[in-house]
Amino acid sequence: MEFKKYLTEQCALVEQAMARYMLPEEGPLANHIKAMRYSLFAGGKRIRPILALAAAEAVHAPTEHLLPVACALECIHTYSLIHDDLPAMDDDDLRRGKPTCHVVFGEAEAILAGDGLLSFAFELMTHPDVRQGISPVAQLQMINIIAKGIGPVGMVGGQSLDLAAEGQAITFDHLRLIHGYKTGALITASVQAGAIFGKADDKQFAALSRYGVQIGLAFQIVDDLLDVEGTTEDLGKTAGADAQRNKATYPAFFGVAKTKVMAKEAVDEAVNALKIFDAKAEPLRDLARYIYERNK
Ligand code: IPE
Ligand code: IPE
Ligand code: MG
Ligand code: MG
Ligand code: MG
Repeated sequence: MEFKKYLTEQCALVEQAMARYMLPEEGPLANHIKAMRYSLFAGGKRIRPILALAAAEAVHAPTEHLLPVACALECIHTYSLIHDDLPAMDDDDLRRGKPTCHVVFGEAEAILAGDGLLSFAFELMTHPDVRQGISPVAQLQMINIIAKGIGPVGMVGGQSLDLAAEGQAITFDHLRLIHGYKTGALITASVQAGAIFGKADDKQFAALSRYGVQIGLAFQIVDDLLDVEGTTEDLGKTAGADAQRNKATYPAFFGVAKTKVMAKEAVDEAVNALKIFDAKAEPLRDLARYIYERNK
């Protein structure tokens, strides 16, 4: 119950910050900004920003000036969803309980809305407010880690591998690689960004990184499971879409029962990685469990 309250409060904090930092829908660019805002403010669990804040919290750092970076992570994530749903990719028409960006604004504008969100994220990560809580060197290090996580040897590369694997027989190592890149990399980078912002020492940073890798993997494994077992209504996206597209998923590879065990193992390993931390890391521990137990 306490964690539920924490989640609601952190989510509200992120929503408020996004409302504050996001461009207003006015002037000659109103339609472009409308498309960005349409997908950004359509709901969403806000897990990546919340993880960044919780990681900073775990190393006893005040998080107020991390908020622009937290918002940037959600902009990047939302861009990845808009592009993931495009006809050339997963070709989905429902996202966050609403018609996808390209269905409403057209394909070209959806591509640009994604590009806009990604670029705007770098404006947010270099926002003057962030400098009030971090040295310029640490800020650069944080941005570097996020850029790497979402790039060719990270999220975007993972998306490329994901598409190439459709309908193919692949090995387990390759499946794990895809999941680690397409989803794990941004989640790991979110945790690491919070760690750097919070001035984590080397040992703390290594532990938080191990945690990030495991929950990142667990997150996509559970996403695969929900595609099989969840409902379109709960998910806000079309259930069963992975099987339809012959996606490389854990349930397709191992079956549902074994997949659940594997997701739980990843979550347990994540929680184990946090042994060196005190009660301030409790939200991170709860977030790991939530990633396993969620129904959307
Ligand atoms: C969905 O992410 C896409 C994946 C990387 C699995 P989320 O499950 O975090 O989606 P939202 O942000 O809550 O809509
Ligand atoms: C999405 O994976 C990963 C990224 C968006 C980077 P999925 O394709 O499984 O995500 P959903 O199921 O459409 O949300
Ligand atoms: Mg996809
Ligand atoms: Mg998809
Ligand atoms: Mg999915």
